[in-house]
Amino acid sequence: MRLFVAVNFSPEIKAALMGAIDDLRRQSTGGNFTRADNLHLTLAFIGETLDLRGARAALAAVSAPPFVLTLNGAGRFGDLYWAGLEKSAALTALAASMQQALRDRGFAIEKRPFKPHITLARQLRSEGPVSLKVPRLSMTVGRISLMRSDRVNGRLTYTEVCGKDLM
Ligand code: 2AM
Repeated sequence: MRLFVAVNFSPEIKAALMGAIDDLRRQSTGGNFTRADNLHLTLAFIGETLDLRGARAALAAVSAPPFVLTLNGAGRFGDLYWAGLEKSAALTALAASMQQALRDRGFAIEKRPFKPHITLARQLRSEGPVSLKVPRLSMTVGRISLMRSDRVNGRLTYTEVCGKDLM
């Protein structure tokens, strides 16, 4: 199975991100747009593994207080469009400790610097320049989730396997 650890969003943040996705859709001639259910922020990407127990144990081992996450800016990597997050020491520290907990249990987590982003659209095609604005909204993150990624009838579907409350 394909696993990752993520932050899921409040209804208000989801609605704002869906607004941005609708704007992108209107300016495009095609692309793969993230569904509301799939919007998330990845903290650690595990990838294909059979070791569900190890991943659960790593999530259980991480401990951090709740923190505030704020949407800030947007951009693109090639044809992938994303929403950004305000720099947050708490977010960086949480991603680092989650990644370390996974490494401690034998998962090969990439050493690339953590670049927090929320993917809004992939393979976006357009005839002209695309403008993307995301409102600067905040939420308190009180839980992080071990997620699994599956193709269900050809559709990318993310499901929470288990969660960890921050306190
Ligand atoms: P993306 O949206 O930029 O592709 C589920 O696939 C989540 O894990 C997505 O947030 C995805 O980021 C991220 N992800 C996929 N492959 C990854 C990789 N090799 N390294 C880091 N994150 C990855």
